Order: sequence, then structure tokens, then C-alpha cells
Amino acid sequence: LPTRSQADPGCLPAYACQRHSPLNHHNLCFTEALDTLAEAAGFEGSEGRFLSFRRAASVLKALPGPITSISQLRGLPHFGDHSSRIVQELLECGVSSEVERIKQSERYQTMKLFTHIFGVGVKTADKWYRDGLRSLADLQGQTRKLSRQQEAGICHFEDLNTLVWRHEAEAIQRVVEKAVRQVLPGATVTLTGGFRRGKLQGHDVDFLITHPVEGQEEGLLPKVMDLLESQGFVLYRHTQSNHYQDLKDPAQSTSLFDAYERCFSILRLPDPTAAFRPEAGEEPCRDGKAVRVDLVVAPASQFAFALLGWTGSQHFERELRRFSRAEKQLLLNSHGLYVPGKKESFPAASEEDIFRHLGLEYIAPEYRNA
Ligand code: GTP
Ligand code: MN
Ligand code: MN
Repeated sequence: LPTRSQADPGCLPAYACQRHSPLNHHNLCFTEALDTLAEAAGFEGSEGRFLSFRRAASVLKALPGPITSISQLRGLPHFGDHSSRIVQELLECGVSSEVERIKQSERYQTMKLFTHIFGVGVKTADKWYRDGLRSLADLQGQTRKLSRQQEAGICHFEDLNTLVWRHEAEAIQRVVEKAVRQVLPGATVTLTGGFRRGKLQGHDVDFLITHPVEGQEEGLLPKVMDLLESQGFVLYRHTQSNHYQDLKDPAQSTSLFDAYERCFSILRLPDPTAAFRPEAGEEPCRDGKAVRVDLVVAPASQFAFALLGWTGSQHFERELRRFSRAEKQLLLNSHGLYVPGKKESFPAASEEDIFRHLGLEYIAPEYRNA
């Protein structure tokens, strides 16, 4: 149990979904170093190394106090030689030469820059790097075709790499809620992602939309986005309808991608000082900051799974799925919880139901910062 483990770090459980991972923990200097190594491994496509460092970092986030001696690592799950060596170096010197070398490297800095562009993943960033590109100016100065998403990402690069504050997320929520209710009375908008986990800042804002009457929610997003667009809030939108049909066997899909209707967008933050004067033909919020907003629509019967899946953290989600598969022989994704080979999910009306089905103690969103 997480509570017991907090008293005795020696028996910290192996899966992040069995532990409490608060937003503010006691080992930031170690977790930052290990997360940097994980990130760098990810840039090189080394999935195994990525997971090792990521899991080690996550373990430290759940400890009840700071690591002050290397002996405290003994018995902790997922602490191999490499991660232990990094912690030792940090304890002895205050910095890790390996981490510093990576952070200074042209490769790491460029990959970080490129993957911070909306619409650019590791694969694309790596290709650009191998083609000799190093900066945003390099990207703009060349003839290769960028996707519409990447164009928008570069255009709004500065705003999108400025953290979004909670009050800004809430301002966007009010705008989205108003539009959603106008299109479909009775529909609800829930803030998910990092803000639901209690973060004060985030890289984007995530919303989950549903309606108590199953099926009513279908096709909602294009109308909502049209309305927001007519109000001048939309800088970029890419809406996808749900593809439940293509997903022949939902129980086969344990990837992070799901089949919900969704929109990846860039919205202009409503500016409270700019009055909306449509008669003057003015844009309502011309000076508002550009913010990445993810909107997902789930039918009521799958809402609990969607909420659990979109609250994160990403590592917490990965661990929940790994736990389900390895310890319970069940498949969990954002649509349901399945016995392999069966198409019907366990029903769940709440996140608590899902934890219960898995035999896990319920972990509140604020403790899912794994
Ligand atoms: P910041 O946005 O950086 O503050 O943190 P965050 O935890 O909110 O990250 P993000 O917005 O990237 O993702 C929120 C949650 O949604 C995480 O748990 C992700 O695993 C999940 N998520 C992101 N993209 C997808 C997707 O395409 N499908 C599904 N099912 N989940 C996703
Ligand atoms: Mn987010
Ligand atoms: Mn997101």
C-alpha cells in the first residue's frame, strides 16, 4: 500500500500506480537529472534506456524525504547501476558530468528545440538534425514542405513555449464551456491533464467533453470549433471524428492513442481587457496569447476510462497499463478494461471503479504525478 511504503521507502511498490506521487516532492535535483537522461535516450530512440531512467526518476518522486546517502537507494525498485551512479555523483559533486555533457551537446539542444515545435516528434526532429538543420531560422530558410500543424507551431513558437497558468486554463475553460453548452445543452467540460493533477502551469490545456445521454455527444466538436472560430478564438484546429469502427477490437489497443472524437488546436487566450465589439468589426481578443488546447469527446459509458486516460501523467498511464497486463492479465486503455479476447469492457461509472476492478488502492489525481 502506498501509505505503508511512504513510512518505509525500503518497500516502495514497483508500479507507479501503486504509489502516491505528489506534485512537489523531495528529490528534484535527482529527478531532473534522471529525466534529462530519459529524454536524451528517447531522442536516440532507445526505448529501454528511456524507461529505465524514467522509472528510476519516478521512484524518487514517491519517496517521503530527500535522498542524502547512496545507501538509501538499496532496495528501491528500478534502480540499476547507471541511475545509482548518477545519484552518487550528484550527492558527491552537486552535478553529474554525464548530464551536463548531454545538456551542453548540440544534438540534445537541437532535438529539444525541434521536438518543442507543435507537430514535430522525435522522428522528424532527428531527420532535420541529420539534414544539418539546427535552428528555427534554418527551418524557415529552407524549401522543404512543412505540415500545416508545423507551420502553426513555428508561427506561434514563442507563445506555445511559454507555460500556461492555471487562471489562463480556467479562462479558456469558460470560453469552451459556453460554446459547448450553446451547441449541446447538458454537455459537460472537464479539465484533465496536468491541471487536474494540481499543476499550476502546463504546456497545454486538456479538456474532456461528454453528455449524460449516450450518443448525443457525437459530432459535437466540429460545431463547437466553428462557433469558437466565429468568435475569433481559433488560431489552428485539426478535428478528427471518432473512429470506433476502425478499431475492430478495442481490447487490442493498449497504445496511448484512442479512437475518440478530438481536436488538437491552438486557441487565442481570451483577453479580459479587450472588449468584444463585433459591430466595430474588431477581433474579440486580438492580443491574447496563443495556447495549445486538446479537446476530447467521450460517450458517457466510457467517460471514466477517458478521464483516467487523459489525466496522466503519461508515466502513470504507462504503469497502469503495464500493471493491468502483467499483474492482472487485463488490458486497459482509454476506452475500457478488457479480458484478452473479449470485446466487452468491465463497466465503470468512476475512476474509483476502475482502480477497484484492478485491485488497486485509489490514487487521487494530485498523486498521479509519477
Ligand atoms: P503538460 O501538458 O505538459 O502540463 O502535462 P500533461 O500531463 O497534461 O501532458 P499532455 O497534455 O501531453 O497529456 C495529458 C494526458 O493525456 C497524458 O496522460 C497523456 O498520456 C494523455 N494523452 C496525450 N495524448 C494522447 C492521445 O493521443 N491519446 C490518449 N488516449 N491519451 C493521450
Ligand atoms: Mn496537458
Ligand atoms: Mn495535451
